[in-house]
Amino acid sequence: MKIGICSDHAGFQYKEKLSAWLAAKGYEIVNFGTDSEVSMDYSDVAHPLARAVEEGAVDCGIALCGTGNGMAMTLNHHKGIRAGLAWSSEIGRLVKAHNNANVLVMPARFISYRMAQSIVRTWMETKFEGGRHERRIAKIPCA
Ligand code: RB5
Repeated sequence: MKIGICSDHAGFQYKEKLSAWLAAKGYEIVNFGTDSEVSMDYSDVAHPLARAVEEGAVDCGIALCGTGNGMAMTLNHHKGIRAGLAWSSEIGRLVKAHNNANVLVMPARFISYRMAQSIVRTWMETKFEGGRHERRIAKIPCA
């Protein structure tokens, strides 16, 4: 499984640690940057990650910024993206089970690294429930 990952400067440390952790588990990680803690604009890495998910170059994505909101807002401008913000393991579960998020977004400045790992693990292990949620996510795109 190929996972695309990106962050801004605020999420850089967690991105690096999560990438190494996931690679050690056997996942193929595609890094979309940023590659330092120098201040940068989250949209510069969020758009390339979104395109890669839309085109199927990666199977899913993980994005981190300070609050997660800049990443989520940018990613969700793409028609093929359902980016879901999660700050607890239970929300990580629900964002897959109910919303079938294909990009997981986390607020690096507001959660511990251990929580970020737990959210990623839960999101990846959870299956989309379909049914009524299939109908609901089908109504998300603007006409
Ligand atoms: C960076 O200071 C911060 O604005 C950014 O990481 C993010 O929280 C934006 O949504």
